[in-house]
Amino acid sequence: MDWYHAGLWVAVFLVAATVIVSRSNQGSPEEACTKFEVGDISSHTLAQYCGYDFSKPILVAVQGKVYDVTKAADRFGPGKPLHAYAGREVARALAKSSIDLADLGSSELHDLGAEEASRLREAVAQYDSQYDAVGQVVPLKQLTPEELAGYAGQDPSKPLYLAIKGTIFDISKGRQFYGPDGIYPFAGKECARALALMSTDEADCCGNLEGLGFTELDILRDWEAKFNIKYPVIGTLVAGTK
Ligand code: HEM
Repeated sequence: MDWYHAGLWVAVFLVAATVIVSRSNQGSPEEACTKFEVGDISSHTLAQYCGYDFSKPILVAVQGKVYDVTKAADRFGPGKPLHAYAGREVARALAKSSIDLADLGSSELHDLGAEEASRLREAVAQYDSQYDAVGQVVPLKQLTPEELAGYAGQDPSKPLYLAIKGTIFDISKGRQFYGPDGIYPFAGKECARALALMSTDEADCCGNLEGLGFTELDILRDWEAKFNIKYPVIGTLVAGTK
């Protein structure tokens, strides 16, 4: 075989291999159709879906209804004209055609004029037709320490929660770490002190930060950042009966 034909065969082989690899990477039709669902989400956690984290979709809420607007990243993504809407409630902003911070994050609509109300109705119809609805904004829960203790994995049908400095995270997707068979005793507890001290001692599972130094408080801040990225915030801890 001369060099020309040998080259031709190599080219044919490479094209065939590329087609096979790209087909195998497409996954099954079921996988391709899996729709992202966020379900109940607090406005605090919604803010994480603003396009800065490329592993997450871009979400926008209108009167509490959460839409996946990722396919319009050219408008809602970082640096784009509507980026201020990403990760926020925007009903009031849509009604007023505004990107003013005072209107963003607000679903206060009682003072809208007829024209603004009609603009909002049109915008809602447009969002409904263009984007998938993937969840709803729910208020933050308020749990006492006794109530929080009920989310430690005793009942497998309930989510797992823990608190850090009074902020409650849903850590259900870390069940392998925190569930009854996990290695960390943090579920159902405030665990700021334990995390700061890198301690798995149950006695350290509390919010008392007295006596901790700069290094420990820095470690705690790193944990807070990690949890804020990985887990949804679902509520705040309030004083209990004890
Ligand atoms: C010999 C000591 C330890 C080893 C080998 C170890 C190992 C690990 C590993 C492999 C992970 C998973 C990392 C990931 O996939 O993201 C992890 C996560 C974690 N570790 Fe440890 N660990 C140790 C000690 C501790 C201690 C003393 C604490 C006490 C605060 C701790 C708290 C955590 C927490 C909170 C997570 C995060 C789990 C999550 O992503 O929700 N670890 N550790």
